Formats: sequence, structure tokens, C-alpha cells
Amino acid sequence: MRASDSLVDAARRAREYAVAPFSGFKVGAALETAGGVVITGCNVENATYGLTVCAERVAMFKALSDGHREFRRIAIVADTEVPTPPCGACRQILWEFGGDLEIILANLLEEKGVHRLKDLLPLPFDARLL
Ligand code: THU
Repeated sequence: MRASDSLVDAARRAREYAVAPFSGFKVGAALETAGGVVITGCNVENATYGLTVCAERVAMFKALSDGHREFRRIAIVADTEVPTPPCGACRQILWEFGGDLEIILANLLEEKGVHRLKDLLPLPFDARLL
């Protein structure tokens, strides 16, 4: 079993809780802290559509609100052949609070790719520029 497997499995389990009645597109995320704690998230949609929160941001906000501040990796799972990368808003939030995270993309059956967040969000805006 590769080290990433259990994180991916946690994201797969979190995906089961997705609240996605409008898109039907269920996403799960599992964020690993520097200390090895895993915090999960799923996407949560609502009737306005626009207030939807992605799985990745749910995981990060849950982690922050539990007091975690240092992160290593995040696994993101959707039921797609082509892997589902984090949206632009999530890249920004993950970068600001997680830095150059390892991003593991997977579907229900297999891992589909590993990326660094700095490669997914080149030339980021963050607090260092304020
Ligand atoms: N979604 C995520 O949760 N994470 C992603 O990386 C991509 C998109 C959600 C938002 C919405 O509930 C549904 O997937 C379709 O966009």
C-alpha cells in the first residue's frame, strides 16, 4: 500500500457525504496536517447554486477551525476518468493556508496524478504582497 492510498481512501469515504443534488457531481477531499492528522471534506451545494462550497475548501476550513495551521498533502476524489483538479478559488485558499501542498488526484478506482500546488497556481497573490 502506498502512503497516499489511505489519504485517497479517506477522500473517497468523504465523497459519500457530498451534498450535490443540483450537479450530481460528488467530490471528496482529505487534507493531511504536518502532524499526520487527516481532515476530510465534501462539496456542499445549495439552492442559490452560487453559495456552493467545494470539498477542498470545506476540508481546509474545517481544519483551520479545529486549530490546524500546517499542512502537507490533500487528496481529491471524483467519479471521473479524467482527474478533477481544484478550481481556481480552491487553489487560492489552499495556497494561502496550506502553501505548496502535494495534490493527489484520484477517482474511485485509482490514483490519477500527483502535482505541487505551486505548479497549479503560478504567480500567486498572497499576504506576502500586502
Ligand atoms: N467541486 C468540488 O467540490 N471540487 C472541485 O475540485 C471541483 C468542483 C464541486 C463544486 C460543485 O458542487 C460540483 O463539484 C460541480 O462543480
